Amino acid sequence: MDLYEYQARDVFEKYGVPVLAGIVADTPEEARAAAEKLGGGVVVVKAQVKTGGRGKAGGVKVAKSPEEAEEAAKAILGMDIKGHTVNRVMIAAGARIAREFYFSVLLDRANRSYLSLCSVEGGMEIEQLAVEKPEALARIEVNPLTGIDKDKALEIAKAANFPEELLDQVSEVFVKLFDVYKGEDATLVEVNPLVLTEEGQIVALDGKVSLDDNASEIRHPDHEALVDEASENPLEAKAKASGLNYVKLDGQVGIIGNGAGLVMSTLDVVAYAGENHGGVKPANFLDIGGGASADVMAAGLDVILGDEQVKSVFVNVFGGITSCDAVANGIKGALEKLGSAATKPLVVRLDGNKVDEGRAILAEYAHPLVTLAATMDEGADKAAELANA
Ligand SMILES: Nc1ncnc2c1ncn2[C@@H]1O[C@H](COP(=O)(O)OP(=O)(O)OP(=O)(O)O)[C@@H](O)[C@H]1O
Ligand SMILES: [Mg+2]
Repeated sequence: MDLYEYQARDVFEKYGVPVLAGIVADTPEEARAAAEKLGGGVVVVKAQVKTGGRGKAGGVKVAKSPEEAEEAAKAILGMDIKGHTVNRVMIAAGARIAREFYFSVLLDRANRSYLSLCSVEGGMEIEQLAVEKPEALARIEVNPLTGIDKDKALEIAKAANFPEELLDQVSEVFVKLFDVYKGEDATLVEVNPLVLTEEGQIVALDGKVSLDDNASEIRHPDHEALVDEASENPLEAKAKASGLNYVKLDGQVGIIGNGAGLVMSTLDVVAYAGENHGGVKPANFLDIGGGASADVMAAGLDVILGDEQVKSVFVNVFGGITSCDAVANGIKGALEKLGSAATKPLVVRLDGNKVDEGRAILAEYAHPLVTLAATMDEGADKAAELANA
């Protein structure tokens, strides 16, 4: 889960990372009140969206008075930034910036390690810096067992060419940022810009934090409160509530399978078959796992049929511990449960344990929406054809 900037700011504060005051606002009036609360001086009104490049898009505006903050919020709220609608702004105390730096620590999967990136040339997009001035970006591997202690932080700061007189101060902040990374089980903590103020303070002016959802469930029950349900995909939220492993994709053929590997290859086969049928594509990933009971099948179908883009559904199941007759009964039960809510054609391919029994159950049931396919390729082709009809 990615955090909003204001959430990252709060987490930073909890760990003693120096940040400026910030208050969120959902309306221009609230923005004005927030600016007044911050003392009525210079503030920065910042769009809260989970994407980068907010400044460039006009989503970060300096306001010299509460009136200006209200105006800025009026302009920013409702704005679209790379497909994200701005529903909330943060009113941040204005910093007097002397210099802008960059710091991040992230999970480096390829090297089974952590990696810190750091530069004294902050502010600009780091992807751009990495391409245009790679020598200005220090990349320091961080051993997950020892993390970033004061020595490691100094190594990072020196590699990034921080001036001698700032080494002590910035390295202390790096240690605290690593405390955030470790303490919250993050996969990314990024500060761009980390600034030196005219007053000589090092402050994190912006924060991006990604949390590891696998750790959140067990180790951080408090992370639940950080989830922004309004911005979640409603189908994914519904699937999550039913305990389903579902990812919404952008195509027309709904997919249900058992086992992540089989579902992944089903996506490939359907995408391939779709090339012969108007370019239709898979609409989702859905792994119903081992016990394909009527309830699980019904919950899965219910989510998939709720996707307006879906035109047909391909159920691809390999009977193992859960045998095909149980799956066939699951499909039958699901269709009965859904009744008139089931409106789209279903192509079913069963194989494996008790395949003959499973097929016989569905053949006898003879539901007008259900077509049986003998193989995975045949099923994918049929489902793609129906989606394109
Ligand atoms: N509180 C603040 N006081 C003064 N200047 C600020 C403040 N917050 C941001 N700025 C200025 O605005 C610039 C952009 O802000 P910020 O980094 O938060 O957004 P961004 O980089 O455009 O967005 P993103 O990081 O999502 O790409 C900063 O580099 C900094 O110069
Ligand atoms: Mg930034």
